[in-house]
Amino acid sequence: MSGLLLSFHWGVVFVLLLAAVPGIIVRLKFTDKMYRWQRGRTSADRRSWYFKQVLTEDRYAKEIRLFDLGTLFSGWFRRDREQLIRERLHIATRRSVAELITEASSTVAVFGSFAFIAYRTLSGSITLGDLVMYYMAFQRAQGFLWTMLRGLAGLYEDTLLIGDFYEFLEVKPKITDLPHPKPVPDPLRQGIKLEQISFRYPDGTRPVLRDISLTIRSGEHIALVGENGSGKTTLVKLLCRLYDPDQGRITLDNTDMRECRLTELRRQISVVPQDFARYQLTARQNIWLGNIDRPPDEQKIITAARLSGADAFIRSLPQGYDTLLGRQFEEGEELSLGQWQKIALARAFLRDAQILILDEPTSALDAKAEFDLFARYRELARGRTAVLISHRLSTVRTADTIYVLEKGRIVEQGDHDKLMRLKGIYAQLFEKQARQYR
Ligand SMILES: Nc1ncnc2c1ncn2[C@@H]1O[C@H](COP(=O)(O)OP(=O)(O)OP(=O)(O)O)[C@@H](O)[C@H]1O
Ligand SMILES: [Mg+2]
Repeated sequence: MSGLLLSFHWGVVFVLLLAAVPGIIVRLKFTDKMYRWQRGRTSADRRSWYFKQVLTEDRYAKEIRLFDLGTLFSGWFRRDREQLIRERLHIATRRSVAELITEASSTVAVFGSFAFIAYRTLSGSITLGDLVMYYMAFQRAQGFLWTMLRGLAGLYEDTLLIGDFYEFLEVKPKITDLPHPKPVPDPLRQGIKLEQISFRYPDGTRPVLRDISLTIRSGEHIALVGENGSGKTTLVKLLCRLYDPDQGRITLDNTDMRECRLTELRRQISVVPQDFARYQLTARQNIWLGNIDRPPDEQKIITAARLSGADAFIRSLPQGYDTLLGRQFEEGEELSLGQWQKIALARAFLRDAQILILDEPTSALDAKAEFDLFARYRELARGRTAVLISHRLSTVRTADTIYVLEKGRIVEQGDHDKLMRLKGIYAQLFEKQARQYR
C-alpha cells in the first residue's frame, strides 16, 4: 500500500504517518502516567479497602455497633475513595483533551489528503479509476498502520504490568536451606542452645531481643515469662526459624539451626501459637492438619482431642468430628474462643514432634479446662523438650527453668523456688497474682 501511495505522491505517506503517530504518543504517555499514579497511590488505595473491610467483616461487627463507628469509618472510606476518584478523573480528563486534539488534527490531515487526491482528479492528472484506487489504498494503509501501532502500544502497556508480576516472582524467601543442609538431630541429645542472640524485625526500628543466651537441655521443660512486648513470642519465632537472628546463633546439638534442613526442623516442632488459626474445616480435619504426613487416624485424633479437652464438646456437635467449624460456610458451627483454642491444642498434640512450644495456650480457657490441661501437661510433654509461655505464673511453676524477660533481655532465671528466694520481678509478680486469689 505504501508503494502504491508513494507512486502517487510521497507527501501522502508522510501525512499518513503524521496522522497516526501523535495519537500513539499521547496514549503511551498517559498509560505511563496512569500506571505511575496507580503505583504511587497503592497505600491510599489499600487503606480505603481496609476501611471497607472493617465496615463489612464480621470480626469487627460488634465493635462497629457498640462504639458506633459506622459513620466514622464510612466517612474515612468515602474521603479516601473520593480523593482517588478525583485524581483519576483529573488524569482521564487530560487524556481526553489530548486525544481530542491529536484526533482532530489527524482528521484534518486525512481529509487534506483526500482533498489532494480529488484535486488531482479534477485537474485531470489522474483518472476517476485512479482516484478510487488511491482512495482505497489510503484507507487500507491507514487501517494497517493503526492496527500495528495500537498493537505496539498494547505491548508496551502489558510490559509495564507484567513487569510488576515478574518483580513479585523475583521476591525470594529470606529463610532458605543452605546448598547441603544437614539432618536435624533426632533424638536431640544435648538440646537447644541460644548463643548471644540479638534480633530486630526487618522493618523494625529497635532491637526486640538483646544478647539472649540460654540452654534448653533435651527433655527439659522451660517457661518464658515477662510483660507484654518483652519478646517472648519473638523468641519462639526464632526457635521455629521463622526469622534468623541478626547476631548470635541457635544450635541443636551443636549444629547451627541455619544448617539444618528447614522442613525437617519444622517437622520436629509442634506449636500452639498465641494467635492460633481457625480453619473453616471439619473438627477432624482441623486436628489432622497438625500432622498431614499421615492419613487421618481416628484413634490418634480422638486421643489428641481428649488431651486438649476438646473431645467432649466436639462429640456434642451435630455431626461430631465431621461437623464443619466456623461461619464462613453455610452449614458451619461457630465455636467459642476457648473451644477454638482447644482445637488448636489438639492439633499440636497430634504432631509427633520432639519440641513442644505453647504460647499462652490457656489464654481463652476456663479455669477448669486450664487446671485439667496443666494437670496433664507434664505427662503430655514427657520425653519432649518443651517451651511454655504464660502470664499466669501458677501454670509455669513446675517448669525446670523459668526465664524472666524484660525489654528483650533475660533478667532472671532459675526454677520457681530459686526465683522466689531471689525476691526479684518474678517473686513480686507471683506474690501479686497469688494475693488476688486469697
Ligand atoms: N511482626 C512484627 N514486626 C515488627 N515488630 C514486631 C512484630 N511482632 C512483634 N513486634 C515487636 O516486638 C516486640 C515484642 O513482641 P512479642 O510479640 O515478642 O512480645 P511478647 O513478649 O510475646 O508479648 P505478649 O505478652 O503481649 O504476647 C513488640 O514490642 C513489638 O513491637
Ligand atoms: Mg506473645
